[in-house]
Amino acid sequence: MTQITIALTKGRILKETLPLLKKIGLEPVDDVFTSRKLLFPTNQENIRILILRGSDVPTYVQFGKADIGIAGKDGLLEHQGDGYYEPLDLGIARCKLMTAAPVGYQPTDGKLRVATKYTKVAREYYAQQGRQIDLIKLYGAMELAPIMDLADEIVDIVDTGNTLKANGLEAREMITEISSRVIVNKASMKTKFPEIKDILSALEAAVSS
Ligand code: PRP
Repeated sequence: MTQITIALTKGRILKETLPLLKKIGLEPVDDVFTSRKLLFPTNQENIRILILRGSDVPTYVQFGKADIGIAGKDGLLEHQGDGYYEPLDLGIARCKLMTAAPVGYQPTDGKLRVATKYTKVAREYYAQQGRQIDLIKLYGAMELAPIMDLADEIVDIVDTGNTLKANGLEAREMITEISSRVIVNKASMKTKFPEIKDILSALEAAVSS
């Protein structure tokens, strides 16, 4: 029996992914939210699930340690890896990748200080705009950086906008719309085509129903 490994993104995306997997008849055998395990068997003998940080999902899929991954487009843009296809937009965990700054802040002509965990995306975006920046890499709580005068602007995910508002910031420019995508290891797509095709078709039907 061909074994299939699916890497899922923990957190917000997982909450929207599990109902989708349930719809296609796939369920982890343990409660992934309370268990400390990271590798889960499922109700289908040949399919197992890994629970990872979003930024690690493309890495596992790129190296073929997971055949299929579900990850936010933000993490995929930042990963910029090859070795996998991106055949399906699940349309879940929708949000926007935006620049944001303190309410009313007017950038001056000098170099802009930009704090973000999305350094590759930010570098490309500001370069396209012809704006010179100093990038400050952070791993979370980006909204704090302008408050503490560590940065002038941030690049981060905006969903409801509540986090920006609560920290005196406002969204400025949209870099791109984000949603969760299915990625598939290129070699697996060939060697495990029937199994992967079945999962992709079922997911496609589930998201469009
Ligand atoms: C994201 C993002 C913002 C927040 C935006 O963080 O970094 O802080 O959500 O959502 P909102 O517009 O609805 O307020 P998340 O909670 O996903 O945690 P993270 O810092 O681990 O990304």
